[in-house]
Amino acid sequence: MSRKKIALVGAGQIGGTMALLATQKELGDVVTIDIVEGIPQGKSLDIAHGTAILGSSVSLTGSNDYAALEGADVVIVTAGLPRKPGMSRDDLLEVNFGIIKTVGENIKEKAPNAFVIVVTNPLDAMVYAMCQVTGFPPYKVVGMAGVLDSSRFASLIAMEAGVNPADVTCLVMGGHGDTMAPLIRYATIGGVPATQLVPLETLEQIASRTAKSGGEIVGLLKTGSAFYAPGLSAIKMAEAFLKDQKSVVTCAAMLNGEYGVDGLYCGVPVVLGAGGVERILEVELDEKEKSAFDTSVAAVTELTEWVKKKL
Ligand code: APR
Repeated sequence: MSRKKIALVGAGQIGGTMALLATQKELGDVVTIDIVEGIPQGKSLDIAHGTAILGSSVSLTGSNDYAALEGADVVIVTAGLPRKPGMSRDDLLEVNFGIIKTVGENIKEKAPNAFVIVVTNPLDAMVYAMCQVTGFPPYKVVGMAGVLDSSRFASLIAMEAGVNPADVTCLVMGGHGDTMAPLIRYATIGGVPATQLVPLETLEQIASRTAKSGGEIVGLLKTGSAFYAPGLSAIKMAEAFLKDQKSVVTCAAMLNGEYGVDGLYCGVPVVLGAGGVERILEVELDEKEKSAFDTSVAAVTELTEWVKKKL
């Protein structure tokens, strides 16, 4: 079997975290690319210095040249600005769109067969832009958000219930913004509906905290946004693709009529495997859930329309 190659565009907080995780998991050789000289080289060398401790055979390189994308099986894009206190993800739209355009054109040219995972915010609009700029089929271009939002919801429920987070499963749908829809009815603890084990009012508070979790971290860090859990989430998606795991995860995928939405990237549960997004799962939503999802879709539509005009 040939060695896999993972290209990380953006060697900042999330990029560096992902390089370490991919090395630990031996997912493939890792190349990090950034516009700042020294950062991708320095982080790669730093992690490479630990491969003897990790017992990892991964080769790491850092570059300031998009040519390093050549031959990548997976490209994960975090290039862009993160939020600062007081900013919403949407405030990043204009500057990050320009960056995604440049990065997308280079991926198209140098890694035409790659599976692309976008992390840059505002997520749903940026992954739409990436799909259009590369011209790749939508099943090969996805956005990382739902894995993170669902993990945040599950971890907060586990803290409240005093149980192992691994035993909690959650589903958060919609856009990766303040309007995301954490679905309380689909939260389970060891297969038991969470509503049977945790008071509904508490679950509602946790759902609301989940939607604001990104902002909570920005408020605490003050100089940037979350990176450990986002890094873990994107690497989980890369692993599902590289190992053909058929994982059921929520990610921003192109909808073509599913959930009554057409031609828009939005967070929905999918099956991720070697074929990329192999299936979009259509779960039943009651009236309240559908209305929350639709509100989120409306917010995503607004940003995506802005992108469409600029493409
Ligand atoms: N090509 C490559 N790298 C770039 C480019 C570009 N055109 N433009 C910016 N970068 C790099 C920056 O130099 C920086 O090192 O992207 C990196 C981003 O890293 P951080 O600022 O540390 O941001 P991070 O926390 O990793 O978040 C990245 O993901 O969750 C989103 O909102 C977040 O949009 C942000 C992105």
